[in-house]
Amino acid sequence: MEIFEQVAAMQLACREVRRSGKTLGLVPTMGALHAGHLSLVRAARADCDVVAATIFVNPLQFGPKEDFSKYPRTFEDDCRKLRAEKVDMLFAPTTEQMYPRGASTVVHVEGLSEKLDGKSRPGHFRGVTTVVAKLFEIARPHRAYFGQKDAAQLAILRKMARDLNMDIEIIGCPIVREADGLAMSSRNVYLSPEERRQALCLHRALCKIESLVAGGERDAERLREAGLLVIAEEKAVRLDYLEIVDAETLDPVRDIKAGALVAVACFVGSTRLIDNVVLPPCA
Ligand code: PAF
Repeated sequence: MEIFEQVAAMQLACREVRRSGKTLGLVPTMGALHAGHLSLVRAARADCDVVAATIFVNPLQFGPKEDFSKYPRTFEDDCRKLRAEKVDMLFAPTTEQMYPRGASTVVHVEGLSEKLDGKSRPGHFRGVTTVVAKLFEIARPHRAYFGQKDAAQLAILRKMARDLNMDIEIIGCPIVREADGLAMSSRNVYLSPEERRQALCLHRALCKIESLVAGGERDAERLREAGLLVIAEEKAVRLDYLEIVDAETLDPVRDIKAGALVAVACFVGSTRLIDNVVLPPCA
């Protein structure tokens, strides 16, 4: 696996891949790789001739009181995992490489970026779309892989690619869960054993909603209330949002017959966790 720190070197290497007629798959990450990330790498490996991963803890997508400085950084371990998955190229730039002094251009998907996590994390999605647009421009991959766990991020990146006519296929990959249902996240390492147990209420709430849908409930507000009750049972957990929305527009839906995204975010201690489930169309 070749490691690039310089934008220009990564650009050149990716240009060579495209020139040789090979397909290039990109897996953008912030490192602290877990099985969820590796499932993205595997999807890229299965689809593309050449796989490039990126590791960059993007300061632009963290709020001033968020966990940028303590975000887990496990570069050597990450490299070992990526090599084991036969990743061809790794782009791991410094902040100065990505945001040279004086850089002042941002990419902002208006509207969508203010919904769900965007409501409670102002500026977060603008940071995500700015860095991903830059990574796309540097690598110009044929396909890029993102986890469905960040469902709002996925919807926003799809919209960005569409709006800016980016010739890149955005691939969403299923959520990978621990055996007990907790969605894999680099932030799970922050949880104490007791918080780790409490965190299961996110998945429990989603399962409750799914089971009510299987039983015939179609009213989004009743489903939402049932989910809220499950979260409320875990007294130490603070709800950020639980919403039932259209997976593309992120607008609330009234009934879920046409399919819907059920998205939840909670604070478990000081750790903010998210999870979701996609309800398929039903009669
Ligand atoms: O999902 C993430 O890890 C990040 O938001 C991303 C897409 C790598 C951009 O920094």
